[in-house]
Amino acid sequence: MDVINDKEELLEQLDVWRQHGEHIALVPTMGNLHPGHASLCDVAREHAERVVVTVYVNPTQFGEEEDFDDYPRTIERDTMRLRKIGADILFIPSDETVYPFGHDCATVVSVPGLTENFCGASRPGHFDGVTTVVARFFAIVQPDVAVFGQKDYQQQLVIRYMTEDLGLPIRIITAPTVREDDGLAMSSRNQYLSEDERTIAPLLHKTIDRIGAELESGHHEFEELEAGGIKELEEAGFKIDYLAIRRAENLATPNRDADDLVVIAAAHLGKARLIDNIVVTI
Ligand code: PAF
Repeated sequence: MDVINDKEELLEQLDVWRQHGEHIALVPTMGNLHPGHASLCDVAREHAERVVVTVYVNPTQFGEEEDFDDYPRTIERDTMRLRKIGADILFIPSDETVYPFGHDCATVVSVPGLTENFCGASRPGHFDGVTTVVARFFAIVQPDVAVFGQKDYQQQLVIRYMTEDLGLPIRIITAPTVREDDGLAMSSRNQYLSEDERTIAPLLHKTIDRIGAELESGHHEFEELEAGGIKELEEAGFKIDYLAIRRAENLATPNRDADDLVVIAAAHLGKARLIDNIVVTI
């Protein structure tokens, strides 16, 4: 695996692959890699001969009060992991490469509508930062496919929308959420949990899973199911950001006869903000 910081060096290597007719998959990350990221790379490998992973902690997607400064930066460990996983290139760009005019003067890519609610509402500006940086990585790497995790359900929808709306010739693949044995979705932010909180944290997944099972078994009182889930989580010590049953394709409020639904949730537990979701067909 080549570790590349320089954009020109990256472009030269990508050109060589393209000339050989090889397809390129992009896995954008903010580092602090865990088995969830390894699975994104495995999925990427199923769709392309070459896998490029980026590690860049993107300042524009963090709010002022958020954890940009504390966000774990573990590049040596990440590099070792990616060598084992077998990525072809690890691209670690500088701020100047990603934002040549500085991020305060950057052209912003913004998806309306889909970004207004849920994580968009509780993290104002977050999705503009995500789409702005992902669009830049798409422009640099020009991959055939790009892989994102289902855990960030709203994020992958927003990126799909952006890609389609801008007519970018990139196939977006959503890779299933990877979980700890007790069901907790893997996330870099799980390390903010204390020992006690860590024992409570899997309840988030258990709760949305139970709601999913109820939906599947014909219980379609959506608001009642949401309220029950929120109560259960609050009693266990979570501070709920949202827990909602929505249409999987666009996060709109479903009719009773909607078929593909997603149960999405975000909640604070101590210092950690956990998110999770499951897709359900009724
Ligand atoms: O999901 C993430 O880690 C980030 O939001 C992404 C897609 C790498 C953009 O910075």
